Amino acid sequence: MDPWWKYKAKWPHAIGDKSTVRSLGSLLIALESEIASGRVELHIGTSLSVLETFDDNYLDWAYVDTTHAYEQTKAELALLKHKVKSGGIIAGDDWREDPEHRHHGVYRAVQEFLIEETSYRLFFQENTQWAISQDIK
Ligand SMILES: C[S@@+](CC[C@H](N)C(=O)[O-])C[C@H]1O[C@@H](n2cnc3c(N)ncnc32)[C@H](O)[C@@H]1O
Repeated sequence: MDPWWKYKAKWPHAIGDKSTVRSLGSLLIALESEIASGRVELHIGTSLSVLETFDDNYLDWAYVDTTHAYEQTKAELALLKHKVKSGGIIAGDDWREDPEHRHHGVYRAVQEFLIEETSYRLFFQENTQWAISQDIK
């Protein structure tokens, strides 16, 4: 799920072609058979608006790589705890422990989540990648 052009017509950090419309076009072509068979679903929209449409326990795992902002990540985790199955994985990018880093919000939101949601633990963290899971009782 991604808003593509609804967020920005051009993604400034892209290597090469920065058009978000053409990025989606390339993805549709690359995943043509998986989309046609229903194995892959693409959702054009923000993480929060799309996640809300899923039933609880719908996802086996989720990978969070959106705005990296604190409030956004906090809201995503609050929804994902319902949408990801118990024992499933919530993972993501941009683990930045430095409070001065512009993407520190991810680290802060995940740490707060782990303090509030005591059944979850950080089971993987390497470079900027992280993954948390709920202990299955
Ligand atoms: C760092 S890029 C990562 C894109 C992709 N995961 C990748 O590695 O190529 C961040 C992406 O978040 C998307 N984005 C921005 N706001 C969002 C939101 N509220 N919900 C979901 N995605 C969002 C942007 O359109 C952009 O494609």
